[in-house]
Amino acid sequence: MTDTSPRFLADYAAPVFTINTVNLTVNLDDTCSQVHSELDIERQEQEPADLALNGEHLILTAVVVNNQALTREQYQLTDTLLIIPASSLPQAKHFTLQITTEINPLENTALEGLFKSGNAFCTQCEAEGFRRISYYLDRPDVMATFTTKVIADKNLYPQLLSNGNKVDSGDLADGKHFVTWHDPYPKPCYLFALVAGDFDVLNDSYKTMSGRDVALEIFVDKGNLSKAQHAMISLKKSMQWDEETFGLEYDLDIYMIVAVDFFNMGAMENKGLNVFNSKFVLADHHCATDNDYFNIEAVIAHEYFHNWTGNRVTCRDWFQLSLKEGLTVFRDQQFSADMHSSAVTRIQNVRVLRSQQFAEDAGPMAHPIRPEKVLEMNNFYTLTVYEKGSEVIRMLHTLLGANNFRKGMDLYFARYDGMAVTCDDFINAMADASEKDLTQFKRWYSQSGTPIVGVNESYDNVTKKYTLTLTQKSPTSVNQPHPQALHIPMKIELVSDAPNETQSYLLELTQTEQSWVFDNVDSKPTLALLADFSAPVKLDYSQSESDLLKLISHANNSFCRWDAGQRLLMSYVQQLTLDKSFTLPNDLLVAFKNILHSDSDHAFIAEQLVLPSFDEAAGLIAEVDPIALVKALKKLTAFIAHGLQDELFACYQARLLNKELVDDVANRALKNICLQYLGTLEKYQYLAKEQYIQATESIDNANMTDTLAALNCSAKYSLNNFSSQMSDFESRWQSTTLVMDKWFALMASQVSSDIFEQLNQLLSHTLFTLKNPNRARSLIGAFAMNNPENFHCKTGRGYQFLTEQVMALNAINPQVASRLITPLIQFKNFAPAHQNMMRDNLLKIQGLSNLSNDLKEKLDAALCE
Ligand code: TRP
Ligand code: ZN
Repeated sequence: MTDTSPRFLADYAAPVFTINTVNLTVNLDDTCSQVHSELDIERQEQEPADLALNGEHLILTAVVVNNQALTREQYQLTDTLLIIPASSLPQAKHFTLQITTEINPLENTALEGLFKSGNAFCTQCEAEGFRRISYYLDRPDVMATFTTKVIADKNLYPQLLSNGNKVDSGDLADGKHFVTWHDPYPKPCYLFALVAGDFDVLNDSYKTMSGRDVALEIFVDKGNLSKAQHAMISLKKSMQWDEETFGLEYDLDIYMIVAVDFFNMGAMENKGLNVFNSKFVLADHHCATDNDYFNIEAVIAHEYFHNWTGNRVTCRDWFQLSLKEGLTVFRDQQFSADMHSSAVTRIQNVRVLRSQQFAEDAGPMAHPIRPEKVLEMNNFYTLTVYEKGSEVIRMLHTLLGANNFRKGMDLYFARYDGMAVTCDDFINAMADASEKDLTQFKRWYSQSGTPIVGVNESYDNVTKKYTLTLTQKSPTSVNQPHPQALHIPMKIELVSDAPNETQSYLLELTQTEQSWVFDNVDSKPTLALLADFSAPVKLDYSQSESDLLKLISHANNSFCRWDAGQRLLMSYVQQLTLDKSFTLPNDLLVAFKNILHSDSDHAFIAEQLVLPSFDEAAGLIAEVDPIALVKALKKLTAFIAHGLQDELFACYQARLLNKELVDDVANRALKNICLQYLGTLEKYQYLAKEQYIQATESIDNANMTDTLAALNCSAKYSLNNFSSQMSDFESRWQSTTLVMDKWFALMASQVSSDIFEQLNQLLSHTLFTLKNPNRARSLIGAFAMNNPENFHCKTGRGYQFLTEQVMALNAINPQVASRLITPLIQFKNFAPAHQNMMRDNLLKIQGLSNLSNDLKEKLDAALCE
């Protein structure tokens, strides 16, 4: 039996024993790997105490204390613990413990601990995976220096890797060899890594700001070397950016990245040896989209930045996860904004937050960025901890200013380098360095839900005074009956008719209701709120159509210009959803025409043309009928497409024909958003078909971004070229794993009357397996998240399909199952008939006899009332 009771932040207690050094010897074998561990243990308290070590799915073969083997009576074993009672331990402050265990990597489909990805061995220890390798104090505040000897067959596994520097290597009997690694930086075991395989290696080096040479090595499956170039360039850019922006330099002589195909998440920042999902490493222009390129650079940066924010300073306990994740996401977002258009990067961050994090924060798994109660830690690698966590750091950056923020970072590292600390420690460093009182700001760490900011304004023509009143309200819940006022930075603009008179301000909203008076305002200004999206809040503020139109063209802040357009569109989506007879105004077409012809950069124009997503709209309409919402979005698309067809077609053609524009990311984005609109008009549907042919067959211009855009358009509008072009695509790419993931995702997102027959065929496709998380997500995730029309179909078959797959995954890979269930647990967003069907399916999953803690925690929360 696994432990089914939750843990609480309030119960934190410092460890009674710590571990100073670890000597591991791992003898690799597919089904019976042997792990020998020698630990130097230090007692932290005088009184006798039992030593309880975490361990799961292990076969224990020996326990030795101070070189004396323990008999079976001298220790206790449960499914999750090895307990050595005080009576079996020496009284001394220091003693040694040796433990030998055996594990079966081949049958480890959960991909936690030591497992096989294809032919390679690799590990994933965050959050609590090390306990599947050996009995250990598996908590981040126990930090030790690791020396790791890896032993394996020399032919099959020529490369044996672990953290730190290589200190020894040699041949052994029976065709085996070994390599020993030593990591001089004490670390928690979640940062431990081991990899063994037969890879191609891309070698490079980086000279740090103090002049040290660091060897950079990227390990990829044989034959993929040319696809690792972009990752290498991204790594060097990240290293340079962190030196320039935060004065942070890399600290070992070698930095290794290994790309594997079987991985639960994006990537992992193990000290000196990052392990990556291959999808965030491999790219070339034939097989990767512009978006893939962007994401690879961002994830490489994220993991690299963890070396300081996460590894050198780590978390005291897992409730503090946002200490490293929120901060590191903020850092990677700033990096991306510096490498690309900062306006477009910011818009894309906000889209994710609004469409997914807001939904999470309004659903049954809502939690503060520092959770207080956890059953399965893997369930808390959430959009809230990561993305809202990053927004909280960004608010600090806004409130303190860039200089004080940098001072705070410097102080944080000066105080805590080499330690395991808390979110409070971080905020205190920021407060001390800037001399700003952040007491109230800390509430962001303990309150959940998206705050709603209300607006009241008045203008006095005689006194020329403009008064702005803002209110704030955080949602209440069982865990949060009395939310308190938060410290909210509100960047605003008072947009004037006279172009040069627009003024911007940073307001600090700290009370439930607060007013500001602005003097000498010549005429009633138009209010633009949340410049740069200065706080993760919702606005309760209905601005008139004409004000929004004014902001689209006149706000200084690019985010405000974009957001005004989105709010206008959202109001139409809302009205169309609730009232089938609502007619769209021609003003909208005029506004869109102006956007198309504006002199903004093309990536920004493309963003302005993107309609709010299904998820974003669903979050703003209570108990929405999903089918009505799908129809509303289609109607809005068709209205714009029809009304602006000449402009959209001209814009599309210009980008298709002009050779210089063809190769440019921004222009591709603009061209492909035009195609998405034109695809709704019969007259232009040939364009999607032709773009596929052109993007696929041209020898030097073959381009995955354009190929996918064309197929996506065909999938969404059920165009008749779709199935033959998908067969063509399949035969071209069947041996390229990452591209076949795209194929499965496209197949699952097609709007089709026989979608369920197709899904069944896809499940039995020779290349489909639930054991590979990317593959499982590409089929099941794409269907549930990218095909709302079929997922929410009124028969309930969509919900049933997801349910069956989640139930199968529960036994194979609980982490992946638990992520895929998201759209079902948010059932309260939808109309009662849909709610009921979704709830019935959840009850079915809850009835599983071998239900994992991962799913149990979410189902219990979703079904509690
Ligand atoms: N620390 C990783 C990151 O943010 C997250 C991660 C990777 C992870 N793999 C995981 C978390 C497995 C839990 C389980 O980059
Ligand atoms: Zn991270």
